[in-house]
Amino acid sequence: MQVLGIETSCDETAIAVYDSEVGILSHCLYSQIDLHNKYGGVVPELASREHVLKVLPLIKKTLIEGKTEFNLLNAVAYTMGPGLVGSLLVGCTVGRSLAYALSLPSIGIHHMEAHLLASMLEKNTPVYPFLALLVSGGHTQIVNVKASGIFKILGESVDDAAGEAFDKTAKVLGLPYPGGPALSALAEKGAGDRFQFPRPMANQPNLDFSFSGLKTFALNTIKSEYIDEQTRADVARAFVDAIVDTFIIKCRRAIKETGIRQLVVAGGVSANKQLQYGLITMLKEEGCEVFFPRDEYCTDNGAMIAYAGYLRIKKGQYEPLGFQAKPRWPIDNI
Ligand code: KG4
Ligand code: ZN
Repeated sequence: MQVLGIETSCDETAIAVYDSEVGILSHCLYSQIDLHNKYGGVVPELASREHVLKVLPLIKKTLIEGKTEFNLLNAVAYTMGPGLVGSLLVGCTVGRSLAYALSLPSIGIHHMEAHLLASMLEKNTPVYPFLALLVSGGHTQIVNVKASGIFKILGESVDDAAGEAFDKTAKVLGLPYPGGPALSALAEKGAGDRFQFPRPMANQPNLDFSFSGLKTFALNTIKSEYIDEQTRADVARAFVDAIVDTFIIKCRRAIKETGIRQLVVAGGVSANKQLQYGLITMLKEEGCEVFFPRDEYCTDNGAMIAYAGYLRIKKGQYEPLGFQAKPRWPIDNI
């Protein structure tokens, strides 16, 4: 079975074809970073217009690269939410219309579920039930993945998502959008013993997070210091250490409380090398296993949508002719 996947939930147009015999045949991505960079963040209206321009040429390119064609496809999957409504509507409309024109079933996919399923595209895969740490630009959650499509949210951010905290703090440090990778690279040059940032909510007996204070902490630190390149790097390092430590504390607690011994980490921030190193070390100490998607499947991509679509279509799940986009869509309500 071949499934076409279409991702347009934010600022990346991403397409892939998944083949149930072979795996991902091809995946292509057009990033709008250059377009939004000068505004310091994603401008939703510009994002949707750009998806409109890019989505069909990218589908064509992906089919050519995958050495496949429309009449070999068996289904179409598209991101239905959560995300920016205008951007989502582009992928939903194209996906549903394409499926109608080709007389194929189509399925709307939950973006965060797809992120966590991306780990299943690797050789070593987790087995249900497992824990998932979902860390993207819009979400920070610890989830108990009880079975395919059955989720219990154990904790989440009460304010900024981890990616959002990275992006806002990067801005404070004068780094370009999106800030995550740039901030992480700057932190590599920083000293770990110069500034000590708080570990938000670490002492509270729950699995929730709060990251908005870290940006303010970074801002106040910068204001009170003479700012040279080393100081910026030291602030970046203190910020990254605080985020990584907080995730280690909460994930350790989730493992102890649930007794579940496998953790999947997914979403854009899972590409962060300091976070990967911290979690791998902690899970080893606990005798548990951790799973990350490969780098290109950590951030937004079409492969995760095509694969999530395959899993649903295989179970006989597909949409009626009408379709919807869900900008807000809790993962425990799929
Ligand atoms: O999953 P994603 O690509 O899009 C959303 O679904 O939001 O996540 C994007 C977020 C951005 O906030 C970006 O700064 C962050 O992931 N990110 C990173 C890294 N790569 C991407 N944050 C920290 N370190 C990274 N290496
Ligand atoms: Zn994402």
